[in-house]
Amino acid sequence: MDLYEVIGARRSVRAFSPKPVEREKLHRLFAAAAGAPSAMNSQPWHFHVAMGATRERVGQTMAQSTLHLREYIGILPQAKLDFAERFYADLGQAPLVAAVSAPIMSDDLDKLNTYISVGCAMENMLLAATAEDLACCSLTFSFWVRDDLAAAFALPEDREVVALILIGYPVEKPVAPPHNMDVVTYLD
Ligand SMILES: Cc1cc2nc3c(=O)[nH]c(=O)nc-3n(C[C@H](O)[C@H](O)[C@H](O)COP(=O)(O)O)c2cc1C
Repeated sequence: MDLYEVIGARRSVRAFSPKPVEREKLHRLFAAAAGAPSAMNSQPWHFHVAMGATRERVGQTMAQSTLHLREYIGILPQAKLDFAERFYADLGQAPLVAAVSAPIMSDDLDKLNTYISVGCAMENMLLAATAEDLACCSLTFSFWVRDDLAAAFALPEDREVVALILIGYPVEKPVAPPHNMDVVTYLD
């Protein structure tokens, strides 16, 4: 696949096979992430991959996040709410769950630069996963249990979990949701 095909083929997947992900593939995913651009080349990201007992603990922690679903997402239709409750309870059975961490910033510009840089690394990784026939789903619903996740991933106090990324072989092929193509205004 060329780059545009990979971009077109990438989907957020929420159902995974238990098939283990080869370590060489993982290395290529994180090498792609590491090659991303970042503000002043700060490279604020670090990827923490939960396997084994840590994967279990992260799963249990994320299952707790469903307590917040009805509280904070009252606008979702019932079917989506029920799906979300099931999905966060088992994270689509993803064999690997990575946390992306970054230094905690107080200054607004530092925060902006940090989160955008982390997003660049995440997208590199998502595209690399697509090229490797793997699939991912980024999650920021992790926000509701961020302190427990920081403990589960043994983060130092000066770093925060920005997002989780589920990684594995997909067992579903989601239809692309509508993507608005009217995203540009040219100005003379
Ligand atoms: C910053 C960010 C946060 C996201 N958080 C979640 C999430 O918490 N739960 C979830 O199911 N999907 C999450 N997603 C995936 C989006 O729902 C998905 O990208 C979007 O619906 C478009 O679908 P596509 O990725 O297949 O194009 C997130 C994506 C991004 C970029």
